[in-house]
Amino acid sequence: MVEGSSSIPNDLNAFWMPFTANRQFKKNPRMFVGAKDMHYTTSDGRQVLDGTAGLWCVNAGHCRPLITEAIAKQAGELDYAPAFQMGHPKVFELANRLVDLAPEGLDHVMFTNSGSESVETALKVALAYQKAIGQGSRTRLIGRERGYHGVNFGGISVGGIVANRKMFGTLLTGVDHMPHTHNLAKNAFSRGEPQHGVELADELERIVTLHDASTIAAVIVEPVAGSTGVLIPPPGYLKRLREICDKHGILLIFDEVITGFGRLGTPFGADYFGVTPDIMITAKGLTNGVIPMGAVFTSGKIHDAFMSGPEHLIEFFHGYTYSGNPIAAAAGLATLETYKEEGLLTRGAEMGRYWEDALHSLKGTRHVIDVRNIGLVGAIELEPIAGAPTKRAFAAFVKAYEMGVLIRTTGDIIALSPPLIVEKEHIDTIVETLADILKSLE
Ligand SMILES: Cc1ncc(COP(=O)(O)O)c(C=O)c1O
Repeated sequence: MVEGSSSIPNDLNAFWMPFTANRQFKKNPRMFVGAKDMHYTTSDGRQVLDGTAGLWCVNAGHCRPLITEAIAKQAGELDYAPAFQMGHPKVFELANRLVDLAPEGLDHVMFTNSGSESVETALKVALAYQKAIGQGSRTRLIGRERGYHGVNFGGISVGGIVANRKMFGTLLTGVDHMPHTHNLAKNAFSRGEPQHGVELADELERIVTLHDASTIAAVIVEPVAGSTGVLIPPPGYLKRLREICDKHGILLIFDEVITGFGRLGTPFGADYFGVTPDIMITAKGLTNGVIPMGAVFTSGKIHDAFMSGPEHLIEFFHGYTYSGNPIAAAAGLATLETYKEEGLLTRGAEMGRYWEDALHSLKGTRHVIDVRNIGLVGAIELEPIAGAPTKRAFAAFVKAYEMGVLIRTTGDIIALSPPLIVEKEHIDTIVETLADILKSLE
């Protein structure tokens, strides 16, 4: 080893951590060194209950044997195959399994390595499709305030999180945003879909009137906005977006990076809400978060629009070195097998009822201004400390970690999304720990 700080174990300086308060972390690090099923093990030997499925991704729980064995086997058999102009059987098998699982009509899949790459892929497919069918003037993309679509330039352009956008210049041009659907004044403490706000979908009509439909390629939304604090749409909202898109020849893209793979108690959010998009973006739960992989589903109509011209030519100029990597494909197949064997893609529907009651028992607890839930997702919104937004929720996060529960916070919202193998006693532990913390917090 080279002499110097880099050879010192646990020197925390070199790694510039993502979406992390680096200086705070490095003063008082929180390190995981192991994981099994519902729990992490910390470097000081404590068990921490995973209330967030890692980052909304470890849907089947940690270190599941089918998945870890499939990865090890694949790594020893075929480690890598070129993604362009070459294939390997597992990636085709995974694509077939995925389209079988997806809502009817989404029958083609492209692979990526993350949610952010899936978003960029979907936006590019949408623009290129419009051009391919002779609608090249449709170049605008419509997102939504408080939407999160990863961190790349397309994603932050259609996304609506100010902190993720404001440092990075003018972003993509020709983007507009619908309003978000979060309305505490009318919908606080809703169970499942909140009652008010379906008319917010009509804002899309207003945007179409402003720009003209002939300039708009696609609308992108998360069925349930996750990263900005679990914003659940009112009944009929997504259906109305679908109708408006159909009326105007606009593609509808669902970003299901969080809602995909069982989070809402159905395989996809599209199933939960009974609305099928033209393009569906996934990642995270696709491989149980174990190996980076994303998948973008498209309708046959979109795929077929590109399948013309001389057969020796590439139809769509896009792809990644690691698209459909053999080890990721093996992990994906084993993950789908685990979900199937254990009924995890619908488990959130039954467990969701216990989850809902448990979370809503926090109504009336100090600082709590809203509790909301859907499937196995929940959010507890806290009154911010005057002049110090996010501080109270962050203090809750640190305290929960110390008390053995991993939660996630975004702004002053605690977002919860346990692995889909969660049992009632785990839910009780999460809720009781939070109740204790909230009572003691400033
Ligand atoms: C809806 C949504 N889209 C995209 C992303 C980005 O995924 P990744 O972090 O894998 O790039 C996320 C991540 O949380 C997400 O929630």
